[in-house]
Amino acid sequence: MQIKVKTGRIDLTEDEAILLSCSPDNPKFSVMLKAIDDKLSGAIRHLFETKDFTGNLGQIAVLYPLGKLKSKRIILTGLGKRNEITLEKIRRAYGFAGRKVKELKINSISVQAVEPNLPVIQLNEASQAMVEGMLLANYKLDRYKTDEGNDRTGLQNLTILEQDHRKIAEIEKGVREGEISSWATNFTRDLANQPSNRLTPSDFARIAAKIAHENNLRCKVYSKAQIQKLKMNAFLAVASGSAQPPQLTVLEYLPPQTKVNTLALVGKGITFDAGGLSLKPSEDMTEMKADMMGGAVVISTLAGCAKMKLPLHLFGIIPATENLPSGSALKVGDIITSHSGKTIEVLNTDAEGRLILADALSYARSFKPDAIIDVATLTSGIKYALGNVCAGIFSNIDGLATRAIKAGEKTNERVWEMPLGDEYMEFLKSDLADMKNVGGKWGGACIAAIFLKNFVGDFPWLHVDIAGVDFKDKDDSYWSKGATGFGARLLLQFLKDWKKI
Ligand code: BES
Ligand code: ZN
Ligand code: ZN
Repeated sequence: MQIKVKTGRIDLTEDEAILLSCSPDNPKFSVMLKAIDDKLSGAIRHLFETKDFTGNLGQIAVLYPLGKLKSKRIILTGLGKRNEITLEKIRRAYGFAGRKVKELKINSISVQAVEPNLPVIQLNEASQAMVEGMLLANYKLDRYKTDEGNDRTGLQNLTILEQDHRKIAEIEKGVREGEISSWATNFTRDLANQPSNRLTPSDFARIAAKIAHENNLRCKVYSKAQIQKLKMNAFLAVASGSAQPPQLTVLEYLPPQTKVNTLALVGKGITFDAGGLSLKPSEDMTEMKADMMGGAVVISTLAGCAKMKLPLHLFGIIPATENLPSGSALKVGDIITSHSGKTIEVLNTDAEGRLILADALSYARSFKPDAIIDVATLTSGIKYALGNVCAGIFSNIDGLATRAIKAGEKTNERVWEMPLGDEYMEFLKSDLADMKNVGGKWGGACIAAIFLKNFVGDFPWLHVDIAGVDFKDKDDSYWSKGATGFGARLLLQFLKDWKKI
């Protein structure tokens, strides 16, 4: 899609549609809206008077100027009361508009730049939220539909117009960042929505390598033999039940700047989680093609950081495999010696995410990062605790969680800090090995997190459990039914705001 920012008047623009936002209070008639209304002999005023459209958030109106303007349609989206505007309301308002644009199969649209006019909202951030709303709402996965009548062109041209040329640079900055964060989210959604027969661990690694190439990232994909040499036995144990070979992808982003912090990002890449021999009930398996969403978040975050040229040295580490039952599968009671040397008694093969992450986190330490961040669809426990509203975060150092919470407030990919007390380690005591991989019925998310803590040593570490927020069950503004891509915008914001620890 082509996104342009231009100086110009939207009322004079010729396009398939023009889009403006409006509020119930001030002024129902902005200068621009008034100019348009005058040309339409009061049609917009009439629309408000009928109360068919009030300017509240979620409302959309489409008007047809019938030659009185150069454009074919006018779309109005409600922003809600002006003094109550937030970045999320902007994102949602343009998300509803984006959904309408998709429904009407509009290919080209001109949008009036949003004017937050509030001291708490910067113009660049508002512009970013506007673009995010439009582009995230425009997402659809239709490549498996063979229906010929299916129109796949969708929105091709998005032009943002602002009359005041002094504002263009700031708008442009936000628009470019919105374009990157939306790309990262939609790319993550796309990978997580792929069924496991269309996205094997090898496909996943190949896609990671392609994205790396396109974004000047270094990329190395380790084969099963190389993973064996690295002694990542916990990862290999999970992979042993699958006919598909495991793949370890390591990405690296080297910034143009010097003297920067080094961070290691680790993502869970289970392309299908049947539970292994501790087989899941079939209804619990339906979403398990998305059990690699953490891995997808890591790829898109590194690519996004490269696109933004952020001053950080980043590693992305993604162990990818399936978790299936078979004659060669990991068995209940098996004891494995992990990459770190610590031994693990496996009492439930469905707690496989922590096994592959244990090795990946331990391996991440070899890069001597200033901090390690992992993202994983790790536990149903976090879904019980926080529902599909917030992801759970855990950290072994003051400050990192607070930064993640702030990034979550900006992006509305919200996170909630969970406890990481040593008490939880009691549940993982094993009679035979250094630890078990599961610890009873309650506090599952906290127990999984404390398990992982054993493998990060003293490195500052943030763990993000996205199991509860991985899917949406319906379309809603900029959210699409299916995989959410949650974590990409969060991490990009978190890294954009990064300061040395
Ligand atoms: N991939 C699942 C976690 C999950 C659950 C993700 C629901 C998305 C939605 C993970 O591998 C798993 O099976 N966890 C188990 C662990 C349990 C057996 C200790 C869980 O949390 O139920
Ligand atoms: Zn599992
Ligand atoms: Zn899993």
